Amino acid sequence: MKPFEIADGIYSVGVADWNVRNFHGYSTEKGTTYNAFLLIDEKVTLIDTVRREFKDQFLKNISKIIDPKKIDCVISNHTEMDHSGSLPFLMHIIGAEKPVYCSKMGFKSLPLHFRPELNYQALENGSKLSIGKRTLQFLETRMLHWPDSMFTYLKEDKILFSSDAFGQHYAGPKRFDDEIDDLILHQAKKYYANILMLYGRKTGKLLKTVEEMGLDIKMICPDHGILWRKNPERIIRKYEKWSSQESKRKAVIVYDTMWHSTEQMAEKIAEGISDEGVEAMPLRLGRCHRSDIMTEVLDAKAVIVGSPTLNNQLYPSVSEFLTYMKGLKPRGKVGASFGSFGWSGEAVRLIRQELEEMEFEIPDPGLKIKYVPDAAGNDACYEFGRKVGKAIGK
Ligand code: FEO
Repeated sequence: MKPFEIADGIYSVGVADWNVRNFHGYSTEKGTTYNAFLLIDEKVTLIDTVRREFKDQFLKNISKIIDPKKIDCVISNHTEMDHSGSLPFLMHIIGAEKPVYCSKMGFKSLPLHFRPELNYQALENGSKLSIGKRTLQFLETRMLHWPDSMFTYLKEDKILFSSDAFGQHYAGPKRFDDEIDDLILHQAKKYYANILMLYGRKTGKLLKTVEEMGLDIKMICPDHGILWRKNPERIIRKYEKWSSQESKRKAVIVYDTMWHSTEQMAEKIAEGISDEGVEAMPLRLGRCHRSDIMTEVLDAKAVIVGSPTLNNQLYPSVSEFLTYMKGLKPRGKVGASFGSFGWSGEAVRLIRQELEEMEFEIPDPGLKIKYVPDAAGNDACYEFGRKVGKAIGK
């Protein structure tokens, strides 16, 4: 990715990772970018770095704009290594004595990742830093999504450098929201669902704080994907909606299957749910990635989980999915469990226990069918779907 100017004297100098397809367990079918920003002012300032594997390309990008040795200070909005991995290399080039500004929590976490002797400078929440004609203001965004996370707001140009927030895993030829169609919103939703869903309440509070601060935001520059310049308000409104976990009349039926019996049950349950006027999505694990399923779970009112019983346990893919979903803490859902079994049939109970721990509303103790559903079994699945559909309400 070539560097490009986003405003007068402000450049995006990050890199594209075209081929990453698994980002710590999240599927990234469009690759991603690691965005970093160079501000040419009396103090030349760099906001964030990139993943370590891309350090040479990063340095080349900076060199196309300015001699990297002229960088006076670095702002680290976030310690995670996709944004800080090149920091030791960069500081070696530009001078290890130069300040690396970060949040108070970043001050604790950066030395645990990299050379403790770097000149880390902790910033107070809300503090300002003049870099010449421009002023940067810092806003702690703790646990969105790490303890160290923060935003940097550039007052004169009205740009919010938002770290992971408002990001999307997308590496492509487009750079801005006005150059790309609405499919980018799906990537933004997937990002929110898999990275930020568990911090929904904090996200909602942060959005209110930003509003109360009266920040005039002309452009939002996240550390992944395209930059929001045409209508930054639009992605803020999406975040308000997602963080409230507002749901629609939609049920995600997530399952896996050994010999297609649990699959047959899933399809009949979906029919019953649909006949109650609820959108039903039967999604099979192993064919659909858990991160895509969670994107659908975000705005679904119900999550119905199905598993065969294998060696008295859940099918491993279902167990993995439940662990992943539990960590993301979906709220306010209706849940139910089902599955085919041979001789013991523990899976349905085990799923129900997990859903109870997630505080789902459970309208039925669950449906299990021995071996292969016959006509009566199919009818039972259909009626089970109707019952769950009714519990979703109007
Ligand atoms: Fe893109 Fe939390 O790192």
